[in-house]
Amino acid sequence: MVALRIVIASSRLSRQSAARSIYHSLSVRGLATAKSPANLFESLDTFTDRHVGPDDNETEFMLSKLGFDSMESFLAATVPQNIRIASSTVSNASIPALSETELHANAKRLGRKNEQFKSFIGMGYHNAVVPPVILRNVFENPAWYTPYTPYQPEIAQGRLESLVNFQTMIMSLTSMHVSNASLLDEATAAAEAMVMAYVQSNQKKKTFFVDKAVLPQTIAVLKTRAKGFGINLVVGDAGDVLKSDALRADLAGVLVQYPDVNGFVTDYSDFTKRVHEAGALVIVATDLLALTLLQPPGEWGADIVLGNSARFGVPAGYGGPHGAFFAVTEKLKRKMPGRLIGRSKDTMGNPAYRLALQTREQHIRREKATSNICTSQALLANMAAMYAIYHGPIGLERIAKKVHFLTQTLKLAVERLGFRVINASSYFDTLTIDVSKHCANAEVMHAAAALQGLNLRRVDKNTVGVTLDESVGKEDLLSLIRAFHIAASQPAPNLADLPAPKELAFPHQLVRESEFLSHPVFNKHHSETEMLRYIFHLASKDLGLVHAMIPLGSCTMKLNSTSSMIPLTWPEFGGIHPFAPHEQVAGYRKIIKELEDDLCKITGFSACSVQPNSGAAGEYAGLTVLRAYHESRGEGHRDVCLIPLSAHGTNPASAVMAGLKVVPVKTHADGNLDLEDLKAKAEKHKDNLAVFMITYPSTFGVFEDGITEACKIIHDCGGQVYLDGANLNAQVGLTNPAVCGGDVCHLNLHKTFAIPHGGGGPGVGPICVAEHLAPFLPSHPLVKTGGDAAIDAISAAPFGSASILLISWAYIKMLGGNGLSESTNIALLNANYMAHRLAGYYSLRFKNKNGRVAHELLIDLAEFDKSAGLKVTDFAKRLQDYGFHPPTCSWPISTCMLIEPTESETLEEIDRFCDAMIQIRKEAEDIITGKQPKDNNLLKNAPHPLSLVVASDKEWNRPYTREEAAYPMPWLREKKFWPTVSRIDDAYGDLNLICDCPTVEELAS
Ligand SMILES: Cc1ncc(COP(=O)(O)O)c(C=O)c1O
Repeated sequence: MVALRIVIASSRLSRQSAARSIYHSLSVRGLATAKSPANLFESLDTFTDRHVGPDDNETEFMLSKLGFDSMESFLAATVPQNIRIASSTVSNASIPALSETELHANAKRLGRKNEQFKSFIGMGYHNAVVPPVILRNVFENPAWYTPYTPYQPEIAQGRLESLVNFQTMIMSLTSMHVSNASLLDEATAAAEAMVMAYVQSNQKKKTFFVDKAVLPQTIAVLKTRAKGFGINLVVGDAGDVLKSDALRADLAGVLVQYPDVNGFVTDYSDFTKRVHEAGALVIVATDLLALTLLQPPGEWGADIVLGNSARFGVPAGYGGPHGAFFAVTEKLKRKMPGRLIGRSKDTMGNPAYRLALQTREQHIRREKATSNICTSQALLANMAAMYAIYHGPIGLERIAKKVHFLTQTLKLAVERLGFRVINASSYFDTLTIDVSKHCANAEVMHAAAALQGLNLRRVDKNTVGVTLDESVGKEDLLSLIRAFHIAASQPAPNLADLPAPKELAFPHQLVRESEFLSHPVFNKHHSETEMLRYIFHLASKDLGLVHAMIPLGSCTMKLNSTSSMIPLTWPEFGGIHPFAPHEQVAGYRKIIKELEDDLCKITGFSACSVQPNSGAAGEYAGLTVLRAYHESRGEGHRDVCLIPLSAHGTNPASAVMAGLKVVPVKTHADGNLDLEDLKAKAEKHKDNLAVFMITYPSTFGVFEDGITEACKIIHDCGGQVYLDGANLNAQVGLTNPAVCGGDVCHLNLHKTFAIPHGGGGPGVGPICVAEHLAPFLPSHPLVKTGGDAAIDAISAAPFGSASILLISWAYIKMLGGNGLSESTNIALLNANYMAHRLAGYYSLRFKNKNGRVAHELLIDLAEFDKSAGLKVTDFAKRLQDYGFHPPTCSWPISTCMLIEPTESETLEEIDRFCDAMIQIRKEAEDIITGKQPKDNNLLKNAPHPLSLVVASDKEWNRPYTREEAAYPMPWLREKKFWPTVSRIDDAYGDLNLICDCPTVEELAS
């Protein structure tokens, strides 16, 4: 066929823009790939054009500014030759590119392969009903899903308030003193609680007891975690825990589920007293909806209460992401893992929220940490909080009662059919039913249910489980009853003949008497109008990618395209239970397999597990896999982990959690790894060396030449190499962790592969491994995953946060291999161009021998402390006045900023950021030269919220104008983002730790 050539206007655009010589002169932009389509039928909605910021002319312009005449010569000076891979490795030949339309058609087709059975499986997962106002305006709203973790509170008051709402909701429903702002999932939350109990005993008591009716996936994750800490995990009947004197003496804590996996609601108040007498903690995994009717664990003395908040309006999504909750008593609050939001005040004395307890996350304590949690589930926690606000206490109680009474109706119906309900004496929403009277085995019952399009829980050969939820209506109940009646071959009872339930079906002493959610916020936004306005009011306080670039080094805040987000909320993907039978989830399986295969092609490894639901969880999974590998070779004693001093705090924290001993390795003044030190330490620990953990390109923002040599040193000493893939954005298509010499790596899909950060999560941290490690990839107790010698589970769900895997799958498929490589090239170019523009104003800390940085750059601001008393924070806060989210501050070096523009930002946006930085440098100069006082100036007083700028002349009291404060650049007149509070007083908030919403009385005063 003769291809029809199409001539587009790109040549005209090239001529126009090639003439430009000054910044910002480009008024007409082309597309990232100016190549004309080859024929009439080629798609025009190619994603690379939309994902990559700079067009061809801008790319050429940036290259010329750096003194290169081609991208290839630039790359040759930037990435060491010895680790480059052939361009065909990641190309359209290996990963074909789909247009946006093709991707959606493909996603629809695969979605249809997920059969729409209604699941009554329960086990911690329900069919949530997402209020549409929350679905569209939070879950699908980039103003909510694109912001970063709220480390810059002055431009994050909206989601901070929302997370405080979440904390308040948890504290109120559980009746505990302090709640954090979410953890990864219920099982990992339980693992965190177990370790807290161990730490609380000063690591002296090593036994942790788990009731056998705790969710099986939680028990599996506890097994993994217990091993690393040397905790003796005992699973049994909670009633027996105190019977053995030996066990009692060594008991750190006990975990029970309330209501338990079989639906029983047990009164644990006496039990709690007795466990406390034995000096151990009582940890309770529970259900938020049930707690609207049940006495909360805090009232009967629980020390830690945890669970999954997903049934509060977050889709099941084949397992996640969901926000786990974690609440503790007052005495444990300073040991709690995860992020905690607290109240404080700004410099004007106004109330303001920020991350409380300046430790923020434990991993900052590196090898002294006992938790590595960093990214958590902020977006999903926000959704759950919004759900509670939308329904309020009355609405929630109404939902709980409906679910409970429908469960009672079902119980009466199945009993009439002659089935035995094992937990007839006490239940909330779950029945465990012995079907042996009518069915040869439980499979007969499952088959009858399947005929009705229903999934029940597989308990054992005679027993099934049924869990009801908010989504269940009359038709669903009738289908359920019909399934039992078919299995029993008995006439179906008529609903009208069943007595209407009135009483709560659990012990009367467990009925909740106390009020909950009485704070004003949960009692006024119940109309859709009010809810919508509240959602938008909060969003308006937060700076996200919808406003400006977020140049956070090591966090890769790139475009999260709408086209990759769209399939996520289709019911074909949202409504699937994680333990749905294998044959019902062919669409999900195919997508996961394709994603795993593509990630293997990109990393050069052989196998992948998508189970870990954050980067840090990936690190822990990878290290645990390595330990299992050593053990399988009779070398389980290998327990030394070498880690460069520049590593992210999660690296040493994860190593400790995997039972490894951390030995730090030095770096040179030029930022490169000290190979001599590495060699000396590897040899010193040769007999016990387990692993070397390295981030590449390094957290100092350079591709080091010595990476392959470093890996060889380790392998020669019997160790393995863990490559932290947080910086994979600099590698894709140019090099890969396998070529560098690694054995395992984790990837942050919420960085390199465009899952949005969600204001602090969700994330996904899959691990890719070399062939020899594939057998050890994580298993799951309910769904087959992992290799033949698999470690126990890392996460609650078999494929972790499965639904958001769709985003990375779509991102990779739409870019194709060529677009992925192009993205890396531009990410490197943007960073180097930025380094070039800032040179002369700021000192670039590290570069390679050719003067090049990788995909990010580290600038050192130490000189300004000496000359003007200015700290990194002062520069960061001043950037907020310019409408930018500051770069990563004080990490990996305390006096530095780590800046990463990503490939998604256009030249214009990069120039705008550089102009802002240069202008701030001028403002600093005024302080250095004494034109502005050191203690009262534009930087020290930043940020300047509107309320401050319009303050009276008396209050203003500053040696600069309001205009200089708020509009230092002309473009701010058009595009101004106002921080909503002035600088926040962290120390005040930490001294006066308050982590819930204001009460009516406080608001009144
Ligand atoms: C280099 C590096 N490694 C690991 C992590 C941990 O990833 P996550 O926050 O997803 O747990 C980060 C997070 O910022 C990082 O920058």
